[in-house]
Amino acid sequence: MRVRLRSALALGRAYRSRSPRIRFRTCTPFRPAMLPVVLIRREQTTDASRIEEIHRLAFGGEVEPSLAAALRSDGAVPAFSLVAEQEGDVVGHVVCSRGYVVPSGSTPADPSSVEALGLGPIGVLPDLQRSGTGKALMHTVLGAADAAGEPLVALLGSPDYYRRFGFQPSIAVGINPPEAAWGEYFQVRTLSAFDPKLTGDFVYARPFHDL
Ligand SMILES: CC(C)(COP(=O)(O)OP(=O)(O)OC[C@H]1O[C@@H](n2cnc3c(N)ncnc32)[C@H](O)[C@@H]1OP(=O)(O)O)[C@@H](O)C(=O)NCCC(=O)NCCS
Repeated sequence: MRVRLRSALALGRAYRSRSPRIRFRTCTPFRPAMLPVVLIRREQTTDASRIEEIHRLAFGGEVEPSLAAALRSDGAVPAFSLVAEQEGDVVGHVVCSRGYVVPSGSTPADPSSVEALGLGPIGVLPDLQRSGTGKALMHTVLGAADAAGEPLVALLGSPDYYRRFGFQPSIAVGINPPEAAWGEYFQVRTLSAFDPKLTGDFVYARPFHDL
């Protein structure tokens, strides 16, 4: 027993002597003075009026607040309606609703239609824009959609902004925008479950048709 213990200790010494030396350095952590703590979380019932207010202020009109409200009862996927909470206040919102990629000229009732997501609206309080909140909302909702096995997220928006999140014009992957005139402004972010054979027309949730 003693012999075994000695040889184990010797082995340990030999191992340590061959191990590369690791130096631990202390360093001053980088602490930006003004960086706010933001939590991206699911929308709750009590957030409804604040979400509409955010879109009213972000877009300067009634279209997006009304759309957000209509989607809540028709089309929004609760797991993909997210708010950005900063110091207890809701300051941003994004929602994805149930859309479909359907065979060209067809409707979601077609048996070969495939479920997909339509993103929007997304808005951040004007005073807090350009501080990374929009980016955090986008990355979180895309990660959640990917983890849930969704094949793609579609949206209408500026290619300059959405390109950074991996969006590309939908026509580049064979998916037609709801309006041909939208051209490169109608974009898709394909996710892990995307099958390149998925082509056709994108159809938004019903409240988008009432705009
Ligand atoms: C778009 C929006 C959600 C982005 O949120 P945000 O918190 O300001 O975004 P971030 O801070 O994460 O990113 C800011 C970057 O996005 C860019 N950006 C913001 N809106 C843009 C737009 N419409 N087109 C191009 N770039 C845009 C900014 O120039 C900035 O770029 P930089 O980092 O190179 O300077 C927010 O600006 C907003 O609510 N805008 C009004 C509503 C709106 O237009 N919604 C989108 C409709 S498609």
